[in-house]
Amino acid sequence: MTETIVKPFNLDFDLITGLSESKDTTKRPLSKMKGMYADELAFEAAVQNEDPLVYEFYELDLPQTPGDLLFGTSILYPGKVGDEYYMTKGHFHTILETGEVYYCLSGKGAMLMENPEGDWDIQYFSPGKAVYVPPRYAHRNINLGNEPLVTFFAFRADAGHDYGTIETKGYRKLVVERDGKPEVIDNPNWKE
Ligand code: NI
Repeated sequence: MTETIVKPFNLDFDLITGLSESKDTTKRPLSKMKGMYADELAFEAAVQNEDPLVYEFYELDLPQTPGDLLFGTSILYPGKVGDEYYMTKGHFHTILETGEVYYCLSGKGAMLMENPEGDWDIQYFSPGKAVYVPPRYAHRNINLGNEPLVTFFAFRADAGHDYGTIETKGYRKLVVERDGKPEVIDNPNWKE
């Protein structure tokens, strides 16, 4: 087994673009969000039409050991499916007792959070604002503006990701546009 030795003083990471010498990039088109938007007809139409790029993130390829931190830049593009704003899938961490911090570099949006016990919260992003995701809370970025929502995030490197719970059950709440403004509503498709 090859041991990866990371020398933090050698890391070169651009906060805005996420670019560095050893970047790990993930790009997600809208089609990866099947079943997550309430308006399925609008979703299918958008995917058939052009399947736009909705989300991408850049992360350094750091070891996932308990003492390390994973960090990177997340970019969520503006748009809507029906009246629901573009969003990320949202996830719990495999180690549920994991906190995470997001710092907004540009754009306007929200972090929608919920825990397995049914509590939920929404915090808003604007440039220069940090949002703390407490342990146990699933978290999803939502773009409420007209430009890319760019955030920097950091969390314990061994936390892991659990996307499956949200993919199966959905989120308790949705954020939709009503009279030109964002409104939080109950998700009609949420499964207990
Ligand atoms: Ni996370």
